[in-house]
Amino acid sequence: MKLAISHTPIQKIEDPEIMDFGVNLYIKREDLIHPTVSGNKWRKLKYNLEQARKEGFDQILTFGGAYSNHIYATASAGKLFDIKSIGVIRGEPHDPLNDTLSFAKSSGMHLYYMDRAKYRQKMEALVIGELKERFGEFYLIPEGGSNALAVKGCTEIVSDIDQEFDYICCACGTGGTLAGITAGLDHKNKVLGFAVLKGAGFLRDDVSNLILQYNKTIYKNWNINLDYHFGGYAKSGSDLQEFMKKFEKQNKIPLEFVYTGKMMFGIYDLIKKGFFKSGETIIAIHTGGIR
Ligand SMILES: Cc1ncc(COP(=O)(O)O)c(C=O)c1O
Repeated sequence: MKLAISHTPIQKIEDPEIMDFGVNLYIKREDLIHPTVSGNKWRKLKYNLEQARKEGFDQILTFGGAYSNHIYATASAGKLFDIKSIGVIRGEPHDPLNDTLSFAKSSGMHLYYMDRAKYRQKMEALVIGELKERFGEFYLIPEGGSNALAVKGCTEIVSDIDQEFDYICCACGTGGTLAGITAGLDHKNKVLGFAVLKGAGFLRDDVSNLILQYNKTIYKNWNINLDYHFGGYAKSGSDLQEFMKKFEKQNKIPLEFVYTGKMMFGIYDLIKKGFFKSGETIIAIHTGGIR
């Protein structure tokens, strides 16, 4: 399966704010993969869609919040590759639909709202059984799209890099992207994820488990920074907003505040604090999410 581009460019960040620290910062523009299935979303969906086809499913079902980039991208991919999609949305129905849900619906996704208590048990056999009774057989993609095939897809972020570096950095929600990058590096170089959720220490186990599901390997060259969540998922602050405004003006690269803004803020801060050393090279992954 192919979208418009399979190789994404790497851009050097030339920003006076960090120039004096001697760190070479690049950004890999995964956001340019496709306008509506961008960044890590395509990497995660690609092999899942192939598998769904291979197993003969004519529909996929996945989960997400009402503002989920994954719901948005899955709906769009379903339309592009002519496979029906069902989005199970956490919580109460939205009327009118917000932009994410409205786009998903217009892409042909069937939206089904699930109350929050049941949503917490969404991967349990009983709930999946109920969904199958309602919708018939489907190929199941977990929340955030993160499973072993998503990890496989994200290894290709690394195989698409053709220059030397010391670190790869990415934003972490469910950790699938970080897991794929780590597996793709296969013990070489270092990976640093930036958690966008508050109190996301559990992510370390989640990432390890995703990698184990993918290739049964334990890696030690990765870590997750928990300090740049700005209050939690989809929370922000004036310092983050200020930073993003300045960054976008200087570098002409759009960020959003839920994922890539927090990662980039963290990278700049860690450069200034000396965590990244003069002469080191970082490749930050732009995982998309821009609407
Ligand atoms: C733009 C963006 N960046 C990063 C992430 C985090 O990815 P993961 O859930 O694989 O950690 C997401 C979530 O899918 C996202 O939408």
